[in-house]
Amino acid sequence: MSFDETIDRRGTHCVKWDMMEPMFGVPAKDGIAMWVADMEFRPPAVVQRAVEAMAAHGLYGYFGDDRAYLQAICWWMAARHGWKVDPKAIFTTHGLVNGTGLCVDTFTAPGDAVVLTTPVYHAFARLIRAAGREVRECPLALVDGQQVMDFDVWDRLMTGTERMMILCSPHNPGGRVWTAAELRGVADFCIRHDLILVSDEIHHDLVYPGHRHIAMPLAAPDIADRLVMMTATTKTFNIAGSHIGNVIIADEALRARFATRMNAHGISPNSFGMHMATAAYSPEGAEWVDGLMRYLDGNRRLFDDGMNAIPGVRSMALQGTYLAWVDFADTGMTPAEFTHRVEHDARIAVNHGVVFGTGGETALRFNIAMPRAQVAEAVARLQGAFADLQ
Ligand SMILES: Cc1ncc(COP(=O)(O)O)c(C=O)c1O
Repeated sequence: MSFDETIDRRGTHCVKWDMMEPMFGVPAKDGIAMWVADMEFRPPAVVQRAVEAMAAHGLYGYFGDDRAYLQAICWWMAARHGWKVDPKAIFTTHGLVNGTGLCVDTFTAPGDAVVLTTPVYHAFARLIRAAGREVRECPLALVDGQQVMDFDVWDRLMTGTERMMILCSPHNPGGRVWTAAELRGVADFCIRHDLILVSDEIHHDLVYPGHRHIAMPLAAPDIADRLVMMTATTKTFNIAGSHIGNVIIADEALRARFATRMNAHGISPNSFGMHMATAAYSPEGAEWVDGLMRYLDGNRRLFDDGMNAIPGVRSMALQGTYLAWVDFADTGMTPAEFTHRVEHDARIAVNHGVVFGTGGETALRFNIAMPRAQVAEAVARLQGAFADLQ
């Protein structure tokens, strides 16, 4: 298990590196890709062996018999999250963007509004708007440099057309690992406004020491009749190209509605994803994740120390995820100016904060899941690009 190895991914049809120049103008030759949530690490050997076994067999037909797969999911959720999942409650989608789109389609109608806590993962708003629904932004407040929920403000933003809320837990961007009290607050908010709650917990395994992710059904068992859970192996094990994810619905009535939409869209399992996920959710996979988090913990310290040393720049202390959220407001620069310095002067591709919604305007998102030496190089370049502020 070496997270220090630098792997050249250029020319492999990898979106993170091969689209860096066309999308951000950051040169492929010596740019550093720190955007999209995709790590620079190979998945654990147990996953690689599963793919090699498929390739050695050499037949790539439709997947069938998901018992081992479902059992692996139930084992993982119980062993890692203390959450008992009924295999009957599990749907397999082509990832969680797909899962989110299906939820919007199933549980809301055109013209309805969907609540998002912004700034938040940008695909949510894109999907909601593309489906002819409205986004109701509930901005996160900042207290001591951390994002917090403000239910009093959010209550006043509701208009009565809201039907669903999508929670990102842990939060992307910013890395908050929501506390039991905050999750209880979300549940009560959904009860007050009669919302279906979709809890996207794709980052649930990526939590740093000192913090504990709580699965929504544990925080609020009483809202099972309005709760849709979403989890995946893809962020945890860096296998996003396998396009697989789980929508887990305990409530039978909600489940029947979702099953109808799955059928209407003809969604059936991706065989590669099924084999990889089954392999990943294992004791060997678990050991790899523990090593990964120790490594990322070192990366986040290096990155934060380097960024916070630049006057006016503030990197939010991550509690989970590898997606650092850096605010440039106090540099006094416009977004165009600080972004130009990052992309043009430092030659680093990042996600622009504005796409995450209200509250993201003065920020950039940096993916720090890369070999430590690359993080150090990025920090050195960024300090150079803002050297005049020292
Ligand atoms: C909160 C969240 N949900 C979903 C996704 C993407 O999920 P998928 O690749 O399964 O569509 C991401 C990717 O970064 C994410 O951060």
